[in-house]
Amino acid sequence: MTAPLSCLLTCSLFIFNFIGGPYPCMASAKKSTCIIQGGRADCSHLSLRVIPSDLPSNISSLDVSHNKLVKVPGDSLGRYRGLIHLNASYNSIARVDESLCQSLPLLQTLNLEHNQVHLLKKEDLGQCTTLTWLNIANNRLKLQEEPFSGLQNLQHLDVSKNKLQSAKLGSRPQLPSLRSLCLGQNVFTSLKSEDFSYLSSSPSLQALNLSYVSLKTVESRCFQPISGLRTLILDGSDMSSQAMSKLLSALSATAIDSLSLQRMKLVALGNLTFAELQKTNLTYLDLSANGMTNIEDGSFQWLPKLQSLILSDNNLRRLTRGTFQGLKTLKKLQLTSALTSALGKKHTSPAVIEDYAFQSLNNLKSLMLDHTAFLKITEKTFTGLTSLTELDLSWSSYTQTPQRGLTNKTFVSLKDSPLKKLNLAGNALTELQPGSFSALSSLVVLILDFNFIKQTLTGREFEGLSQIQEIHLSNNIQSINLTSSSFVNVSCVRVLTLGKSLKAEALNKDPSPLWPLTNLTVLDLSNNNIANIRTNLLKGLTDLKVLKLQHNNLARLWKMANLGGPVLFLKDTHKLETLQMDYNGLDEIPVGALQGLTSLSVLTLSNNLLNNLKNPVFDDLKSLRVLTLAKNLITNVRPEVFQTPMSNLSVLWMDKNPFDCTCEGILWFVTRLNNTNGTSVPGLKDNYKCNTPLMYFNRSIMDFDPMSCKDKTPFQALYMLSSTAVLIMMVSALLVRFQGWRIQFYWNVLINRTLGFSDATAEEANGFEYDAYIIHAEEDAGWVTKQMTPLESAKYRFCWEERDSIPGMFYLESIMENMRKSRKILFVVTESLLKDPWCRRFKVHHALHQVIEASRDSVVLVFLQDVNDYKLSRSLFLRRGMLRPRCILEWPVQRERVPAFHQKLLIALGMTNRLQD
Ligand SMILES: *[C@@H]1O[C@H](CO)[C@@H](O)[C@H](O)[C@H]1NC(C)=O
Ligand SMILES: *[C@@H]1O[C@H](CO)[C@@H](O)[C@H](O)[C@H]1NC(C)=O
Ligand SMILES: *[C@@H]1O[C@H](CO)[C@@H](O)[C@H](O)[C@H]1NC(C)=O
Ligand SMILES: *[C@@H]1O[C@H](CO)[C@@H](O)[C@H](O)[C@H]1NC(C)=O
Ligand SMILES: *[C@@H]1O[C@H](CO)[C@@H](O)[C@H](O)[C@H]1NC(C)=O
Ligand SMILES: *[C@@H]1O[C@H](CO)[C@@H](O)[C@H](O)[C@H]1NC(C)=O
Ligand SMILES: *[C@@H]1O[C@H](CO)[C@@H](O)[C@H](O)[C@H]1NC(C)=O
Repeated sequence: MTAPLSCLLTCSLFIFNFIGGPYPCMASAKKSTCIIQGGRADCSHLSLRVIPSDLPSNISSLDVSHNKLVKVPGDSLGRYRGLIHLNASYNSIARVDESLCQSLPLLQTLNLEHNQVHLLKKEDLGQCTTLTWLNIANNRLKLQEEPFSGLQNLQHLDVSKNKLQSAKLGSRPQLPSLRSLCLGQNVFTSLKSEDFSYLSSSPSLQALNLSYVSLKTVESRCFQPISGLRTLILDGSDMSSQAMSKLLSALSATAIDSLSLQRMKLVALGNLTFAELQKTNLTYLDLSANGMTNIEDGSFQWLPKLQSLILSDNNLRRLTRGTFQGLKTLKKLQLTSALTSALGKKHTSPAVIEDYAFQSLNNLKSLMLDHTAFLKITEKTFTGLTSLTELDLSWSSYTQTPQRGLTNKTFVSLKDSPLKKLNLAGNALTELQPGSFSALSSLVVLILDFNFIKQTLTGREFEGLSQIQEIHLSNNIQSINLTSSSFVNVSCVRVLTLGKSLKAEALNKDPSPLWPLTNLTVLDLSNNNIANIRTNLLKGLTDLKVLKLQHNNLARLWKMANLGGPVLFLKDTHKLETLQMDYNGLDEIPVGALQGLTSLSVLTLSNNLLNNLKNPVFDDLKSLRVLTLAKNLITNVRPEVFQTPMSNLSVLWMDKNPFDCTCEGILWFVTRLNNTNGTSVPGLKDNYKCNTPLMYFNRSIMDFDPMSCKDKTPFQALYMLSSTAVLIMMVSALLVRFQGWRIQFYWNVLINRTLGFSDATAEEANGFEYDAYIIHAEEDAGWVTKQMTPLESAKYRFCWEERDSIPGMFYLESIMENMRKSRKILFVVTESLLKDPWCRRFKVHHALHQVIEASRDSVVLVFLQDVNDYKLSRSLFLRRGMLRPRCILEWPVQRERVPAFHQKLLIALGMTNRLQD
C-alpha cells in the first residue's frame, strides 16, 4: 500500500542508491580526480567538459553529475560497454544521442535530471531497450512522435519539471513494463480522457505522481486507461474544489489504494468531499499540512476500508463524535501537530477533543497525538478505542490546572484498551497522583521523560501496572525522592531510567528503593549527582545487565580511605554487561569493586582521575569488548593490569591520558596496539600523546622506539646498575670538585714514575736545541724567569727572547731561528700578551704556521689569567678546543698546587708532536 508511494516520492533520490556513493556535499574533502571503488567511478563535481577516457573499462557504474558536459556522445562511452548505471545529471546536455544506448548495451539506469535536453525524438532512446529507470526531470523537453516507445523494459520514468503542456507522452500504447510515472511540476492544467491512453497496455503501472500540477479540468474517464492505478500523489497541487471533486470522481472507478493530498490547501473537509471514493478500496490517505481547520462530521464515512489516516500539521479546532465516523477498519491515526490553540486577542483557546471523539475507531491500534494542544483529557476522551495498543501524547498539553498532574481519572477512558505503550514525554507534568495508571493494566512501556515531576514516589503512583516492563523517568528536574516502597507495585519492571531525575539522597535508603525489581536488566541512574549510596543498592538485582552511573559523584565511595571501607555495590550483579561510570571524579578503583563481573563487555570510565590502577582490579573482566578510559590521568599501561581486560577487546578508548613513554610505562601497550588483533582504537594517531619524558613530550605514543628497550632488559639489573653509577659519579664529582688537583697530581706522579715524563721518542727530541720557545708579554717576564728557570736545571732547556736571542742577528730572524730550534712553543697567556703587538703580528703568525705545518701539539698554553676564549681566538687565532687538554695549563692561585702545575707542565712539554687520533 505505501511501498509504491514512497518509491515515487523518492524518485529523484533513488539514483543515489545505485550510483551515489558518498554524496559530494561533504565539501571538506574536495576531490580532484575520479574516485573508483568497487566497479563504480565517481567523477561528479569536477567541472568536466568531456567524459574521462582513462577510467577502467570494466566499470559498471559511472557518475558524471554536476559537471559541464554538453553532450554524452556514444563514442566516448564506447570504452565502458559494461555500464549498467549512468548518472549525467546536473550538466548542460542539450541532446540525447541515439549512439548513447547503442554503445551501452547493458544500461539499466540513466539519470539526465537537470540538463538542457530539448527535442526528444523516437530514435534518441530507441535503442535503450534494457533501460529500467530513466530520470529526465528538469529539462526543457519537447517530445516528437513517440520518444519513449522503444523503452520496452522501462519501469520508472520521471519527466517532472519539464514545462510539459500535456500529460500525454505518446499516442500509441507503449511502456509495457512501466510501474511508476512522475509527471509532477509540469504546466498542464487538464487531464483529458485520452491523455493516458498511451498507458493502456501498461498493466504494472501502479503509481502516478502529479504533485504541484495545477489541474483545472479533469475529465471523468481520464484514469481509465491506467487499470492498475493504486497510488496517486497530488501533493502541492493547487486545485479548485470543483476540479478536486472531478478528480476524485475520476478516481472512483479505479483500484486506487493510496492517496496523498498534502499541502493542497484543503482547509475544510465536507461530508461529501470523499463521497466519490465510496466504491474504491482506499486504505491510505494523507492529508498533512493543509492548514485544515475543520472536518465536517461524516467526512470519512465513505472510506470504510481506510487503514491509515494522516492528518499531521493542520490547525484543527475540534474533533467530535462524528469526525471519524465510519472509519471502522482504521488502524493508524496520525494527528501529530494536528490540533492547535487558536491565538485570541487576550488568551488562547485550546482545541477541543470532545468526549467519545474516537468511539467509532474500534480497530485503531496506534493513535499519535504528539505535539498537540487540546483542552483536556476527560473520563470519556478515549472511550471506544478497544484495540488501541499505542498512544503517543508526547510534547502535548492537555491539562489546564496550574498543578499539571495525572490523577486516577486521567486515563480511565482507556480501561478497556489493551494499551501497551504510552508516551507522556514532554507533558510538563509535575505530579503523579496515586492510581494515575491504574486503568492501564496491560501497559508494558511507560514513558515519562522530560517532565517536571517533583515528588516522593511512595509506590502508589504505579498501582495497577501489573504488566509493566519499562518505566522511563529520565530528564525530570532532579526532584524525585524515593522510598523503600517506591517500586513495590511494579516488580516486573525490566528497564528503569531515572537519569537526571533524582534528588541526591533519593537512593540512600535501607532497604534500597530498588529491592523489589528482581527482574531489572537496565538501570539508568546517570546525571543525578549521587554521592551517597549503600552497599545494598543493587542487592538481589541479579539479572542486571546495563547500569548507567555516569555524571554522578561516586569518588568517595570507592576510596580505600572511605569510612568503613570502599562501598562495593556491584557485588551482586554478576550478569552485568554494560557499566558506565564516566564523569564521577574517581581516582581509585578498589580491589574487588569489579570482582565477579565476568560477563561485562562494556566498561566506560572516561573523564575520571584514575591513575595508578592496582593489579587485580580488572582481572575478572574476561569478556570485555569495549573499554573506555579516555581523559584520565593514566601514565603507565602495564600488562599486570591491562592484559586481561584487553585480551578480547574490539574497541578501546584510552585517548587523552598523560602517558609516560618509557620502557616500563608504555612498551607493552605500544606493542599491544601494534598487533591490535582486531581491536579498533579510534584516534590512535592524534590523541594518544606522551606527556613524559621530555624527549617524547607531545609526540604520539606510537613514535616510542621499542628498540630502545631491547638491550636494557632486565629492568631491575639496569636500575641497579644505573643507580650505582649515579652514586659513584656523585661521589667522584664531589671529590674532583674539592680535591681534584691533588688527585691529578698524585696520578701524574704515579704515571711519570713508571713511564717517565715524555712519550716523545728520542729521535723526535734530537733535532731540537730547546725544549720550548716561550712567548710572553713583557710584563710577564718576571714570572717566566721565576718559574721556568728552575725547571731548566732538570733536563729541559727553554728559549726566550730577552735571554737567548742570537747576538748580531736581526731581531726577527733571531726569533724565527730560535722557534725552529724549539720542539714546543709555550704561550704565557695573559691579557697583556693578547695586547702585545709583537705577539699579534709576528710571533703568533709564525707559531701558528708551525702549528699547522707540524702539529697542534707543539703549542702549549699556560694561562696566568682567565682569558675569554673569544679574545684568545681573535688575538692568537687559537681556541682552547683546538688543543689537547693536556696542552692547556692554568697557573694555580693556591700556592700548594704549584708543584702539581709543574708536573703538568713537564708532561705537556714531554708529549709527542705527532698527531694522535
Ligand atoms: C475492493 O476489494 C474487494 C475485495 O477485497 C474487491 O472485490 C473489489 O473489486 C475491490 N474494489 C476495487 C474498486 O478494486
Ligand atoms: C451532510 O451535512 C449536512 C448538514 O451540514 C446534512 O444535512 C447532510 O445530511 C449530511 N450528509 C451526509 C451524507 O452525512
Ligand atoms: C481516585 O482517587 C480518589 C481520591 O483521590 C478516590 O476517592 C477515588 O476512589 C479514586 N478512584 C479510583 C477509581 O480509584
Ligand atoms: C525523601 O523522602 C524521605 C522519606 O522517604 C524523607 O525522609 C526525606 O526527607 C526526603 N528527602 C527530601 C530531600 O525530600
Ligand atoms: C521475573 O521473570 C520471570 C521469568 O521471566 C517471571 O517468571 C517472574 O514472574 C518475574 N518476576 C517478577 C517479579 O515479575
Ligand atoms: C610497530 O610496527 C612497526 C612496523 O610494523 C615497527 O616499525 C614498530 O617498531 C612497531 N612498534 C612497536 C612498539 O612494536
Ligand atoms: C592475537 O590473536 C592470536 C590468535 O587469534 C593470538 O594467538 C595472539 O596471542 C593474539 N595477540 C594478542 C596480542 O592478543
